Amino acid sequence: MTLSKISSLNFREKINASCPSKSMLELLLKRRSLTVKDFINPGPSPDQLNQILTIASRVPDHKKQVPWRFIIIEGEARIKMGRVLKSQFFKNTPDASDACLLFEQNRFMRAPVIIAVISRADPLNDKTPEWEQILTAGAVCQNILIAANTMDYAAQWLTEWYAYDRQILSAIGLDKIERVAGFIYIGTGGGKTLVSGQDLI
Ligand SMILES: Cc1cc2nc3c(=O)[nH]c(=O)nc-3n(C[C@H](O)[C@H](O)[C@H](O)COP(=O)(O)O)c2cc1C
Repeated sequence: MTLSKISSLNFREKINASCPSKSMLELLLKRRSLTVKDFINPGPSPDQLNQILTIASRVPDHKKQVPWRFIIIEGEARIKMGRVLKSQFFKNTPDASDACLLFEQNRFMRAPVIIAVISRADPLNDKTPEWEQILTAGAVCQNILIAANTMDYAAQWLTEWYAYDRQILSAIGLDKIERVAGFIYIGTGGGKTLVSGQDLI
């Protein structure tokens, strides 16, 4: 087999595997986040959420360590999370105003579905450097944004103060080595349109 035949064969295989899509390309060229304050119902259905999580898991993962997990916060769980946030915020800031406390209580009500992407990067893992495990969790977050946008939902990647508050993290069941890579809020765009990202380059 000649070199040109080999490269043309590889090229064809590459195209088959990549599933070229004009609409996907357009989305990637223009992708921007809407802010969560503009989100409304509905969020993804259970089937769509399942699909989003599957797409989220299709990330490059060196040595397949799966250094992430998901916590889904929706429905009543958002109210419970709000109570946890309000109480911890009050502990951290005893002179907080009622308006601030109410805001904390309602943080998770800003979207119908929130996916907490938990990084399980382990510094003692001798197969994959911790840094690469962390990068993989970031890629999981980005895949969620893209999957949600592809389904016509708005999504925003947030951390905010509660992603770094160890009391909150243990209240929601995180191990000591676990960290929040992102709370990905997903909802409907509320009539706002995404602005092209081309002005950024
Ligand atoms: C790891 C990470 C954490 C973020 N946390 C916050 C946050 O806490 N609050 C916020 O307003 N934006 C946060 N952002 C930025 C938003 O997700 C978003 O990128 C920003 O609103 C700009 O939108 P764009 O996606 O159109 O560039 C974070 C982004 C990343 C990657």
